[in-house]
Amino acid sequence: MKCMEQLSRDHRTIIKALDLLRYSALRSEDATEPVIREYCRLIDFLKTFAGVCHFAKEERALFPKLMETEIQTDERMVAVMESEHDQARHLIEQMELAVASHHPREFSFYAQKYSEHVESHIAKEENLVFARASRILSPADDEALIVRFDEIESKIALRRDLLDELSTTLGAGKTTTVSY
Ligand SMILES: [Fe+2]
Ligand SMILES: [Fe+2]
Repeated sequence: MKCMEQLSRDHRTIIKALDLLRYSALRSEDATEPVIREYCRLIDFLKTFAGVCHFAKEERALFPKLMETEIQTDERMVAVMESEHDQARHLIEQMELAVASHHPREFSFYAQKYSEHVESHIAKEENLVFARASRILSPADDEALIVRFDEIESKIALRRDLLDELSTTLGAGKTTTVSY
């Protein structure tokens, strides 16, 4: 299903950004001002790409569609996923505060926490939510969701290539990939 493929592609991008975040957090104790500015750009990328764009595709398009078509168990599943989105947004705020107030250990702590949280969330979506959505959504639902995703993405200024640029400036080289 095209809509699931698009969301899984977003997940792979988010996981690349998380690899870079972990790499940065491990080196944050000795970070210079220019490097700290790059951390801010990386956090901002995650905040926009994951916290605004990707989560909105799920919260405003996929989850409501699942609620229309399925039974009560989906309401619980969707409630858990939405609460995990809120937790992720909260952890991003904590990371921003830590960087802004020059507390590298706190940045490192929240970066690790955020990475673990979002990776576990993504694994749940891939294994539970998307598997179920692929079974119950029709080809017409798929087309409608793709249109909604495009609408959502068109309203947000995204630079997907920023991640490669940050990977170079932060000295991480190529980030690892996962196979979803
Ligand atoms: Fe999600
Ligand atoms: Fe997701």
